[in-house]
Amino acid sequence: MDKLTKIFESIAVISGETELEPVLVELAQLGKDLAGADRCTVWLHDEVSHENWTLVAQGIEPIRIPADSGFVGVSIQQGESLRIDDAYKDDRFNRSIDEKTGYRTYSILTVPFQNAQGIYFGAFQAINKLPVGTAFSKEDQQLIQLAATYAGKAIEARLLHNELLKTQQEMIEIMGQIGESRSKETSNHVRRVALYSYELAKLAGIPKKQRDMLRMASPMHDIGKVATPDAILLKPGRLNDEEYQVMKEHAAIGYEVFRHSKRDLLQTAAIIAHQHHERWDGKGYPNQLKGEQIHIFGRITAIADVFDALGSARVYKKPWSDEEILLYFQQQAGFQFDPQLTDLFLRHFDRFNEIRTSYSDV
Ligand code: C2E
Ligand code: SIN
Ligand code: SIN
Ligand code: SIN
Ligand code: FE
Ligand code: FE
Repeated sequence: MDKLTKIFESIAVISGETELEPVLVELAQLGKDLAGADRCTVWLHDEVSHENWTLVAQGIEPIRIPADSGFVGVSIQQGESLRIDDAYKDDRFNRSIDEKTGYRTYSILTVPFQNAQGIYFGAFQAINKLPVGTAFSKEDQQLIQLAATYAGKAIEARLLHNELLKTQQEMIEIMGQIGESRSKETSNHVRRVALYSYELAKLAGIPKKQRDMLRMASPMHDIGKVATPDAILLKPGRLNDEEYQVMKEHAAIGYEVFRHSKRDLLQTAAIIAHQHHERWDGKGYPNQLKGEQIHIFGRITAIADVFDALGSARVYKKPWSDEEILLYFQQQAGFQFDPQLTDLFLRHFDRFNEIRTSYSDV
Protein backbone atom coordinates (compact mmCIF):
# COMPACT_ATOMS: atom_id res chain seq x y z
CA MET A 1 0.00 0.00 0.00
CA ASP A 2 2.77 2.31 0.98
CA LYS A 3 4.46 1.75 -2.36
CA LEU A 4 1.24 2.21 -4.32
CA THR A 5 0.76 5.56 -2.61
CA LYS A 6 4.29 6.57 -3.61
CA ILE A 7 3.65 5.57 -7.21
CA PHE A 8 0.47 7.63 -7.40
CA GLU A 9 2.12 10.61 -5.75
CA SER A 10 4.98 10.48 -8.22
CA ILE A 11 2.68 10.18 -11.20
CA ALA A 12 0.80 13.24 -10.01
CA VAL A 13 4.02 15.25 -9.71
CA ILE A 14 5.37 14.08 -13.07
CA SER A 15 2.19 14.72 -15.01
CA GLY A 16 2.29 18.33 -13.83
CA GLU A 17 5.80 18.88 -15.20
CA THR A 18 6.72 19.80 -18.75
CA GLU A 19 10.47 20.07 -18.10
CA LEU A 20 12.84 17.13 -18.19
CA GLU A 21 14.99 17.86 -15.14
CA PRO A 22 12.33 17.73 -12.43
CA VAL A 23 10.92 14.58 -14.00
CA LEU A 24 14.31 12.86 -13.77
CA VAL A 25 14.69 13.91 -10.17
CA GLU A 26 11.20 12.67 -9.27
CA LEU A 27 11.75 9.34 -11.04
CA ALA A 28 15.01 8.81 -9.17
CA GLN A 29 13.19 9.42 -5.91
CA LEU A 30 10.47 6.96 -6.92
CA GLY A 31 13.05 4.32 -7.83
CA LYS A 32 14.76 4.76 -4.49
CA ASP A 33 11.51 4.38 -2.56
CA LEU A 34 10.28 1.39 -4.58
CA ALA A 35 13.52 -0.56 -4.32
CA GLY A 36 14.28 0.41 -0.72
CA ALA A 37 17.68 1.66 -1.91
CA ASP A 38 20.10 4.10 -0.38
CA ARG A 39 20.28 5.92 -3.72
CA CYS A 40 18.84 5.77 -7.14
CA THR A 41 19.95 7.47 -10.33
CA VAL A 42 18.22 7.71 -13.67
CA TRP A 43 20.64 7.47 -16.58
CA LEU A 44 20.02 8.64 -20.13
CA HIS A 45 21.93 7.72 -23.23
CA ASP A 46 23.34 10.59 -25.29
CA GLU A 47 23.70 9.40 -28.89
CA VAL A 48 25.73 12.36 -29.99
CA SER A 49 28.53 12.07 -27.45
CA HIS A 50 28.28 8.28 -26.96
CA GLU A 51 27.91 8.75 -23.24
CA ASN A 52 25.39 8.00 -20.55
CA TRP A 53 24.58 10.85 -18.23
CA THR A 54 22.72 11.38 -15.01
CA LEU A 55 21.55 14.35 -13.07
CA VAL A 56 22.56 14.25 -9.41
CA ALA A 57 20.43 17.25 -8.61
CA GLN A 58 18.55 19.94 -10.49
CA GLY A 59 20.69 22.77 -11.77
CA ILE A 60 23.95 20.84 -11.38
CA GLU A 61 25.99 19.69 -14.38
CA PRO A 62 25.22 16.06 -15.21
CA ILE A 63 27.72 13.26 -14.55
CA ARG A 64 28.79 11.57 -17.77
CA ILE A 65 30.38 8.17 -18.39
CA PRO A 66 31.24 6.44 -21.68
CA ALA A 67 28.25 4.61 -23.17
CA ASP A 68 29.90 1.19 -22.89
CA SER A 69 31.07 1.62 -19.31
CA GLY A 70 29.76 0.03 -16.13
CA PHE A 71 26.56 -1.86 -15.44
CA VAL A 72 24.61 1.04 -16.83
CA GLY A 73 26.41 0.69 -20.16
CA VAL A 74 25.81 -3.05 -20.32
CA SER A 75 22.20 -2.70 -19.29
CA ILE A 76 21.29 -0.02 -21.84
CA GLN A 77 23.25 -1.65 -24.66
CA GLN A 78 21.85 -5.14 -24.07
CA GLY A 79 18.41 -4.11 -22.84
CA GLU A 80 18.86 -6.30 -19.76
CA SER A 81 18.22 -5.83 -16.08
CA LEU A 82 21.16 -6.60 -13.81
CA ARG A 83 20.91 -7.50 -10.15
CA ILE A 84 24.31 -7.59 -8.48
CA ASP A 85 24.97 -8.40 -4.81
CA ASP A 86 28.54 -7.15 -4.60
CA ALA A 87 29.56 -4.74 -7.30
CA TYR A 88 33.28 -4.94 -6.48
CA LYS A 89 33.33 -8.62 -7.32
CA ASP A 90 32.12 -7.88 -10.84
CA ASP A 91 34.59 -6.44 -13.30
CA ARG A 92 31.88 -4.73 -15.33
CA PHE A 93 31.49 -2.26 -12.46
CA ASN A 94 32.83 1.21 -13.12
CA ARG A 95 34.50 2.25 -9.87
CA SER A 96 35.40 5.71 -11.04
CA ILE A 97 32.33 7.34 -9.52
CA ASP A 98 32.88 5.69 -6.13
CA GLU A 99 36.49 6.79 -6.28
CA LYS A 100 35.45 10.37 -6.91
CA THR A 101 32.73 10.47 -4.27
CA GLY A 102 34.19 8.21 -1.58
CA TYR A 103 30.92 6.27 -1.56
CA ARG A 104 31.06 2.45 -1.27
CA THR A 105 28.72 0.57 -3.58
CA TYR A 106 27.68 -2.95 -2.57
CA SER A 107 24.45 -4.07 -4.21
CA ILE A 108 23.21 -2.69 -7.50
CA LEU A 109 20.02 -3.07 -9.45
CA THR A 110 20.01 -1.72 -12.99
CA VAL A 111 16.88 -1.72 -15.14
CA PRO A 112 16.81 -0.25 -18.67
CA PHE A 113 13.86 1.47 -20.32
CA GLN A 114 12.91 2.03 -23.93
CA ASN A 115 11.22 4.56 -26.18
CA ALA A 116 8.16 4.04 -28.40
CA GLN A 117 10.37 2.46 -31.08
CA GLY A 118 11.64 -0.12 -28.62
CA ILE A 119 15.11 1.39 -28.44
CA TYR A 120 16.73 1.34 -25.01
CA PHE A 121 17.73 4.90 -24.14
CA GLY A 122 18.11 4.96 -20.37
CA ALA A 123 18.17 3.03 -17.13
CA PHE A 124 17.23 3.12 -13.49
CA GLN A 125 20.08 2.31 -11.19
CA ALA A 126 19.29 1.58 -7.56
CA ILE A 127 22.36 1.36 -5.34
CA ASN A 128 22.77 -0.31 -1.92
CA LYS A 129 19.68 -2.05 -0.67
CA LEU A 130 18.90 -0.90 2.86
CA PRO A 131 19.98 -1.90 5.41
CA VAL A 132 23.43 -1.84 3.84
CA GLY A 133 24.81 -5.32 3.32
CA THR A 134 21.51 -6.82 2.17
CA ALA A 135 20.70 -7.47 -1.48
CA PHE A 136 17.95 -6.42 -3.88
CA SER A 137 15.23 -9.04 -4.29
CA LYS A 138 13.41 -10.31 -7.36
CA GLU A 139 10.42 -8.30 -6.14
CA ASP A 140 12.47 -5.09 -6.01
CA GLN A 141 13.47 -5.77 -9.58
CA GLN A 142 9.86 -6.24 -10.68
CA LEU A 143 8.82 -2.98 -9.06
CA ILE A 144 11.62 -1.09 -10.79
CA GLN A 145 10.71 -2.76 -14.07
CA LEU A 146 7.20 -1.46 -13.62
CA ALA A 147 8.51 2.03 -12.97
CA ALA A 148 10.80 1.72 -16.00
CA THR A 149 7.85 1.15 -18.34
CA TYR A 150 6.36 4.38 -17.15
CA ALA A 151 9.68 6.25 -17.03
CA GLY A 152 10.45 5.54 -20.67
CA LYS A 153 7.21 7.17 -21.75
CA ALA A 154 7.42 10.09 -19.34
CA ILE A 155 10.99 10.94 -20.32
CA GLU A 156 10.46 10.54 -24.03
CA ALA A 157 7.49 12.91 -23.91
CA ARG A 158 9.66 15.58 -22.22
CA LEU A 159 12.51 15.07 -24.66
CA LEU A 160 10.12 15.57 -27.59
CA HIS A 161 8.63 18.58 -25.89
CA ASN A 162 12.12 20.08 -25.41
CA GLU A 163 12.91 19.39 -29.03
CA LEU A 164 9.78 21.22 -30.15
CA LEU A 165 10.58 24.16 -27.90
CA LYS A 166 14.12 24.39 -29.23
CA THR A 167 12.89 24.27 -32.82
CA GLN A 168 10.33 26.95 -32.08
CA GLN A 169 12.95 29.14 -30.43
CA GLU A 170 15.28 28.80 -33.40
CA MET A 171 12.54 29.63 -35.87
CA ILE A 172 11.71 32.71 -33.82
CA GLU A 173 15.31 33.86 -33.79
CA ILE A 174 15.62 33.34 -37.51
CA MET A 175 12.47 35.34 -38.14
CA GLY A 176 13.73 38.04 -35.83
CA GLN A 177 17.02 38.24 -37.64
CA ILE A 178 15.25 38.60 -40.96
CA GLY A 179 13.49 41.64 -39.57
CA GLU A 180 16.47 43.12 -37.84
CA SER A 181 19.30 42.79 -40.27
CA ARG A 182 18.15 41.93 -43.73
CA SER A 183 21.30 43.79 -44.46
CA LYS A 184 24.31 42.25 -42.88
CA GLU A 185 25.82 39.06 -41.57
CA THR A 186 23.68 37.53 -38.83
CA SER A 187 24.08 39.26 -35.52
CA ASN A 188 23.24 38.23 -31.99
CA HIS A 189 21.10 41.35 -31.53
CA VAL A 190 17.77 39.52 -31.30
CA ARG A 191 19.18 36.91 -28.95
CA ARG A 192 20.63 39.59 -26.68
CA VAL A 193 17.37 41.55 -26.64
CA ALA A 194 15.61 38.34 -25.58
CA LEU A 195 18.07 37.75 -22.74
CA TYR A 196 18.05 41.37 -21.49
CA SER A 197 14.25 41.34 -21.55
CA TYR A 198 14.16 38.11 -19.57
CA GLU A 199 16.64 39.44 -17.02
CA LEU A 200 14.85 42.75 -16.58
CA ALA A 201 11.53 40.93 -16.22
CA LYS A 202 13.10 38.79 -13.51
CA LEU A 203 14.31 41.88 -11.65
CA ALA A 204 10.80 43.31 -11.97
CA GLY A 205 9.33 40.19 -10.32
CA ILE A 206 7.44 38.90 -13.34
CA PRO A 207 6.59 35.19 -12.93
CA LYS A 208 8.64 32.58 -14.78
CA LYS A 209 5.94 31.54 -17.27
CA GLN A 210 5.44 35.11 -18.46
CA ARG A 211 9.16 35.77 -18.51
CA ASP A 212 9.62 32.76 -20.75
CA MET A 213 6.91 34.10 -23.03
CA LEU A 214 8.61 37.49 -23.17
CA ARG A 215 11.98 35.90 -23.88
CA MET A 216 10.55 33.91 -26.74
CA ALA A 217 8.51 36.72 -28.26
CA SER A 218 10.86 39.71 -27.93
CA PRO A 219 13.25 38.62 -30.73
CA MET A 220 10.41 39.35 -33.14
CA HIS A 221 9.96 42.99 -32.09
CA ASP A 222 11.34 44.38 -35.38
CA ILE A 223 9.77 41.85 -37.74
CA GLY A 224 7.89 44.75 -39.37
CA LYS A 225 11.19 45.98 -40.81
CA VAL A 226 10.83 43.34 -43.53
CA ALA A 227 8.57 45.89 -45.19
CA THR A 228 11.01 48.79 -44.89
CA PRO A 229 12.71 49.64 -48.20
CA ASP A 230 16.44 48.96 -48.34
CA ALA A 231 17.12 52.58 -49.30
CA ILE A 232 15.89 53.56 -45.86
CA LEU A 233 16.84 50.60 -43.70
CA LEU A 234 20.39 50.49 -45.03
CA LYS A 235 20.96 54.20 -45.44
CA PRO A 236 24.44 54.89 -44.11
CA GLY A 237 23.52 58.26 -42.60
CA ARG A 238 20.75 59.93 -40.63
CA LEU A 239 17.23 59.55 -41.95
CA ASN A 240 15.34 62.65 -43.04
CA ASP A 241 11.84 63.23 -41.66
CA GLU A 242 10.09 61.54 -44.53
CA GLU A 243 12.31 58.46 -44.33
CA TYR A 244 11.88 58.27 -40.57
CA GLN A 245 8.09 58.30 -41.02
CA VAL A 246 8.37 55.25 -43.28
CA MET A 247 10.77 53.57 -40.85
CA LYS A 248 8.34 54.06 -37.98
CA GLU A 249 5.71 52.02 -39.77
CA HIS A 250 7.58 48.87 -38.76
CA ALA A 251 5.84 48.87 -35.37
CA ALA A 252 2.32 48.80 -36.82
CA ILE A 253 3.35 46.34 -39.54
CA GLY A 254 4.80 43.94 -36.97
CA TYR A 255 1.56 44.15 -35.08
CA GLU A 256 -0.41 43.30 -38.23
CA VAL A 257 1.77 40.25 -38.83
CA PHE A 258 0.87 38.64 -35.51
CA ARG A 259 -2.38 40.10 -34.32
CA HIS A 260 -4.69 37.53 -35.91
CA SER A 261 -3.04 34.58 -34.22
CA LYS A 262 -4.79 32.92 -31.30
CA ARG A 263 -1.53 31.57 -29.87
CA ASP A 264 -0.42 33.23 -26.64
CA LEU A 265 3.13 33.45 -27.88
CA LEU A 266 2.20 35.28 -31.06
CA GLN A 267 -0.25 37.53 -29.23
CA THR A 268 2.65 38.49 -27.00
CA ALA A 269 4.81 39.06 -30.07
CA ALA A 270 2.06 41.31 -31.49
CA ILE A 271 2.03 43.48 -28.36
CA ILE A 272 5.80 43.78 -28.28
CA ALA A 273 6.13 44.60 -31.98
CA HIS A 274 3.41 47.20 -31.59
CA GLN A 275 4.62 48.91 -28.43
CA HIS A 276 8.40 48.70 -28.30
CA HIS A 277 8.77 52.30 -29.55
CA GLU A 278 6.14 53.83 -27.32
CA ARG A 279 7.59 56.20 -24.75
CA TRP A 280 6.74 56.58 -21.07
CA ASP A 281 6.07 60.32 -21.66
CA GLY A 282 3.59 59.60 -24.45
CA LYS A 283 5.80 60.93 -27.26
CA GLY A 284 6.59 57.60 -28.87
CA TYR A 285 4.96 55.79 -31.77
CA PRO A 286 2.70 54.52 -33.24
CA ASN A 287 -0.07 55.34 -30.73
CA GLN A 288 1.50 57.79 -28.27
CA LEU A 289 0.57 55.53 -25.36
CA LYS A 290 1.67 56.87 -22.01
CA GLY A 291 3.01 55.31 -18.78
CA GLU A 292 1.27 52.12 -17.78
CA GLN A 293 -0.95 52.24 -20.84
CA ILE A 294 2.08 50.64 -22.42
CA HIS A 295 2.16 46.91 -21.71
CA ILE A 296 4.97 45.97 -19.31
CA PHE A 297 6.48 43.79 -22.07
CA GLY A 298 6.60 46.84 -24.36
CA ARG A 299 8.31 48.91 -21.66
CA ILE A 300 10.83 46.17 -20.97
CA THR A 301 11.64 45.50 -24.61
CA ALA A 302 12.07 49.25 -25.22
CA ILE A 303 14.90 49.35 -22.69
CA ALA A 304 16.45 46.11 -23.95
CA ASP A 305 16.29 47.19 -27.59
CA VAL A 306 17.70 50.67 -27.10
CA PHE A 307 20.45 49.42 -24.78
CA ASP A 308 21.55 47.02 -27.47
CA ALA A 309 21.15 49.51 -30.33
CA LEU A 310 23.21 52.17 -28.54
CA GLY A 311 26.05 49.77 -27.76
CA SER A 312 26.16 48.37 -31.28
CA ALA A 313 27.46 49.69 -34.58
CA ARG A 314 24.68 50.50 -37.04
CA VAL A 315 24.93 51.62 -40.66
CA TYR A 316 24.03 55.07 -39.36
CA LYS A 317 26.04 55.27 -36.11
CA LYS A 318 29.06 54.11 -34.14
CA PRO A 319 28.65 52.15 -30.89
CA TRP A 320 28.38 54.29 -27.78
CA SER A 321 30.64 53.87 -24.75
CA ASP A 322 29.26 52.45 -21.48
CA GLU A 323 29.45 55.91 -19.92
CA GLU A 324 27.40 57.45 -22.70
CA ILE A 325 24.83 54.66 -22.45
CA LEU A 326 24.54 54.98 -18.67
CA LEU A 327 24.12 58.74 -18.94
CA TYR A 328 21.44 58.33 -21.62
CA PHE A 329 19.37 55.97 -19.48
CA GLN A 330 19.75 58.21 -16.43
CA GLN A 331 18.49 61.15 -18.46
CA GLN A 332 15.66 59.25 -20.14
CA ALA A 333 14.19 57.62 -17.00
CA GLY A 334 10.64 58.90 -16.80
CA PHE A 335 10.84 60.38 -20.32
CA GLN A 336 11.58 57.71 -22.91
CA PHE A 337 11.57 54.84 -20.38
CA ASP A 338 9.60 53.57 -17.40
CA PRO A 339 11.47 55.08 -14.44
CA GLN A 340 11.15 52.02 -12.16
CA LEU A 341 12.35 49.62 -14.81
CA THR A 342 15.17 51.99 -15.71
CA ASP A 343 16.19 52.11 -12.08
CA LEU A 344 16.36 48.30 -11.92
CA PHE A 345 18.27 48.24 -15.17
CA LEU A 346 20.83 50.78 -13.99
CA ARG A 347 21.29 49.16 -10.60
CA HIS A 348 22.08 45.85 -12.28
CA PHE A 349 23.88 47.26 -15.28
CA ASP A 350 26.73 44.75 -14.86
CA ARG A 351 24.45 41.81 -15.51
CA PHE A 352 23.27 43.31 -18.76
CA ASN A 353 26.81 44.09 -19.78
CA GLU A 354 27.79 40.49 -19.04
CA ILE A 355 25.12 39.22 -21.42
CA ARG A 356 26.33 41.70 -24.00
CA THR A 357 29.90 40.41 -23.68
CA SER A 358 28.89 36.74 -23.78
CA TYR A 359 26.83 37.22 -26.92
CA SER A 360 28.90 39.84 -28.71
CA ASP A 361 28.94 39.88 -32.49
CA VAL A 362 32.11 38.37 -33.85
P1 C2E B 1 17.60 50.37 -34.20
O1 C2E B 1 18.86 50.78 -34.88
O2 C2E B 1 17.52 48.97 -33.74
O3 C2E B 1 17.39 51.33 -32.97
C1 C2E B 1 16.40 51.08 -32.04
C2 C2E B 1 16.18 52.26 -31.14
O4 C2E B 1 17.38 52.54 -30.41
C3 C2E B 1 15.87 53.56 -31.88
O5 C2E B 1 14.53 53.65 -32.20
C4 C2E B 1 16.28 54.59 -30.82
O6 C2E B 1 15.29 54.69 -29.82
C5 C2E B 1 17.49 53.96 -30.19
N1 C2E B 1 18.70 54.47 -30.86
C6 C2E B 1 19.48 53.84 -31.73
N2 C2E B 1 20.52 54.63 -32.10
C7 C2E B 1 20.37 55.78 -31.43
C8 C2E B 1 21.12 57.01 -31.39
O7 C2E B 1 22.15 57.18 -32.06
N3 C2E B 1 20.64 57.98 -30.58
C9 C2E B 1 19.52 57.84 -29.83
N4 C2E B 1 19.13 58.82 -29.03
N5 C2E B 1 18.79 56.69 -29.85
C10 C2E B 1 19.20 55.70 -30.65
P2 C2E B 1 14.07 54.63 -33.38
O8 C2E B 1 14.77 55.90 -33.30
O9 C2E B 1 12.58 54.65 -33.38
O10 C2E B 1 14.56 53.90 -34.67
C11 C2E B 1 13.97 52.71 -35.12
C12 C2E B 1 14.80 52.11 -36.19
O11 C2E B 1 14.90 53.04 -37.28
C13 C2E B 1 16.25 51.84 -35.79
O12 C2E B 1 16.37 50.60 -35.15
C14 C2E B 1 16.91 51.86 -37.16
O13 C2E B 1 16.70 50.64 -37.85
C15 C2E B 1 16.16 52.93 -37.89
N6 C2E B 1 16.81 54.23 -37.79
C16 C2E B 1 16.59 55.18 -36.86
N7 C2E B 1 17.36 56.26 -37.14
C17 C2E B 1 18.07 55.96 -38.24
C18 C2E B 1 19.04 56.71 -39.04
O14 C2E B 1 19.37 57.85 -38.74
N8 C2E B 1 19.57 56.08 -40.11
C19 C2E B 1 19.18 54.82 -40.45
N9 C2E B 1 19.75 54.27 -41.53
N10 C2E B 1 18.26 54.11 -39.76
C20 C2E B 1 17.73 54.70 -38.67
C1 SIN C 1 22.55 16.59 -21.73
O1 SIN C 1 23.03 15.79 -22.50
O2 SIN C 1 23.15 17.03 -20.74
C2 SIN C 1 21.13 17.09 -21.94
C3 SIN C 1 20.56 16.45 -23.16
C4 SIN C 1 19.07 16.60 -23.26
O3 SIN C 1 18.44 17.39 -22.55
O4 SIN C 1 18.51 15.91 -24.12
C1 SIN D 1 28.17 1.36 -12.88
O1 SIN D 1 27.10 1.40 -13.52
O2 SIN D 1 28.98 0.44 -13.06
C2 SIN D 1 28.54 2.38 -11.87
C3 SIN D 1 27.69 3.58 -11.86
C4 SIN D 1 27.61 4.11 -10.45
O3 SIN D 1 28.35 3.72 -9.56
O4 SIN D 1 26.72 4.97 -10.23
C1 SIN E 1 12.11 57.52 -29.94
O1 SIN E 1 12.12 56.34 -29.69
O2 SIN E 1 11.06 58.20 -29.85
C2 SIN E 1 13.36 58.23 -30.41
C3 SIN E 1 14.43 58.16 -29.37
C4 SIN E 1 15.55 59.11 -29.64
O3 SIN E 1 16.12 59.11 -30.75
O4 SIN E 1 15.92 59.87 -28.71
FE1 FE F 1 12.02 48.78 -33.65
FE1 FE G 1 15.68 46.17 -32.48
